[in-house]
Amino acid sequence: MGLIFAKLWSYFCNQEHKVIIVGLDNAGKTTILYQFLMNEVVHTSPTIGSNVEEIVVKNTHFLMWDIGGQESLRSSWNTYYSNTELVCSFRAQTAAGVTDVSRFIILVVDSTDRERLAISKEELYRMLAHEDLRKAAVLIFANKQDMKDCMSAAEISKYLTLSSIKDHPWHIQSCCALTGEGLCQGLEWMTSRAGLR
Ligand code: GTP
Ligand code: MG
Repeated sequence: MGLIFAKLWSYFCNQEHKVIIVGLDNAGKTTILYQFLMNEVVHTSPTIGSNVEEIVVKNTHFLMWDIGGQESLRSSWNTYYSNTELVCSFRAQTAAGVTDVSRFIILVVDSTDRERLAISKEELYRMLAHEDLRKAAVLIFANKQDMKDCMSAAEISKYLTLSSIKDHPWHIQSCCALTGEGLCQGLEWMTSRAGLR
């Protein structure tokens, strides 16, 4: 009986993992979201507010929030960090007091944008220090690898001093949102992390 209950509990409560997709404007966040969803490149315009889509990978459900990255919008990223009731209403309604949900951050970096990598770094560490994201795992996409003179994932990793991050699981993946290359590997890492929670 206990086992059945535990299975049902995990079925209802661990099915959906909240993901926020952040990064500077023009990094390729919206392009990545719709590659995940439809396996194709959609025409995008700068996101004002957010797009939200559910992506299912091997029975793991991710609710992905793609947030606009323009400078004026960055201060509102933190309004997307919590809102647990949107993620697991079953849990919110039936288990008062249990509000802890799995969360992922996908940070998308335009690998050609050397000038603004310092700003991406600043935003990354600001997020990691945020109370509501203390348990979040971070996937960094080094996007636009098709472009000449782009930085490699190793270069970006070094610049962002990822190896110094000890209190969050992290992973960096090079990718090209136009072809979809690298995106599956990133999702696989997230799926394996989701299984650990
Ligand atoms: P905001 O909504 O303003 O925050 O931007 P965003 O991060 O959502 O960027 P978006 O997905 O709209 O992409 C911006 C531009 O980059 C578009 O013209 C995309 O086609 C282009 N782009 C996205 N990914 C790639 C890539 O891997 N390679 C190349 N060459 N272009 C890309
Ligand atoms: Mg966008």
